[in-house]
Amino acid sequence: LELIQHPEGGYFKEVYRSDESLEENSLPIRYGSSRNFSTSIYFLLNGNQFSSFHKLKSDEIWHHYDGCSITIYLIDASGTLELKVLGKDLEKEQSFQITIPKGSWFAAKPDDENSFSLIGCTVAPGFEFNDFELGKREELISLFPLYRKLIVDFTNE
Ligand code: GUN
Repeated sequence: LELIQHPEGGYFKEVYRSDESLEENSLPIRYGSSRNFSTSIYFLLNGNQFSSFHKLKSDEIWHHYDGCSITIYLIDASGTLELKVLGKDLEKEQSFQITIPKGSWFAAKPDDENSFSLIGCTVAPGFEFNDFELGKREELISLFPLYRKLIVDFTNE
C-alpha cells in the first residue's frame, strides 16, 4: 500500500484528494485558508501500535477494511469520555463506520496485539496538517485529570 509513518502513530497513505477547492471565504473562520473538498487515507496500526490523542478541525469518518477491530477513545470538549469499536462484528456492537466529531480529542488501538487494523479515514473539507493537533501529555492531563492513566497510555511524552 506504500504507507508512510504518521505523526500520530501507525502508517498512512492519502488515496483521494478532491481536485476542487473551497475558498477561505466560504469556510468557517477556523480554517483560515482554502481547502480541497475532501480527502481520504488508508491508515494502518499494527497490534502493538496506537494512534495517540489528537484532534481535527473537521469531522472525520473511519471505515474498517481489514484486520482486527479497533477501539477508539473519544474525549469531547465537555470532558466526556466515550469508547467506540470500529469493526465488522455487529453482534458485538462494533460499527463498520464511525464518525469522530470535530474538536474531540481521540486515540485508538487495535483490539488484538497479534493482529493489525487497516482502516480508511475520510475528512471534509480535505485534510491539512494545519487542521491537526497532536495532544501534549501534560496539557491533556491538566484539561482532563480524571483520565490521567488513559492519557499517559495514549500519548508519547
Ligand atoms: N492525511 C494525513 N493525515 C491524515 C489524517 O489523519 N486524516 C486524514 N483524513 N487525512 C490525513
